[in-house]
Amino acid sequence: MFLHDVGGLLVEFKPERFANGLSGACKYPQAYLPFGYGSRHCLGQNFTLTEIKIVLGLLVNNFEFKLSPNYVHCPASNFLLVPKYGVKLLVSKVDHNKGK
Ligand code: HEM
Repeated sequence: MFLHDVGGLLVEFKPERFANGLSGACKYPQAYLPFGYGSRHCLGQNFTLTEIKIVLGLLVNNFEFKLSPNYVHCPASNFLLVPKYGVKLLVSKVDHNKGK
């Protein structure tokens, strides 16, 4: 996937910046616009979202997702309704050969 640097933030591989969710990674959570906005918004947005859907399809096909018993249901309003404490999932690989 082609990624380009916006404001020097992408140079460093730092996934822990999302440890507190997407909004936690932003100085101003309501300003989270990953593809920009307006007439100069990202040209690759539709391509990228299609790519993400393909990856999501592969994940759903190959893994089973269960809600963790530690999940606390607490919808919170943050412009959109979001799970206040995140959604912890238990992920396990699907064995496609099982039962054959
Ligand atoms: C996760 C993937 C991507 C993210 C988060 C992203 C994000 C962005 C952002 C924030 C901008 C600046 C928008 C603005 O100035 O308001 C931008 C511009 C742009 N992006 Fe992306 N981008 C992604 C993938 C791609 C891909 C895959 C392509 C091409 C195949 C692409 C092509 C472009 C181009 C050409 C611009 C400049 C548009 C202009 O100035 O008119 N981007 N992108």
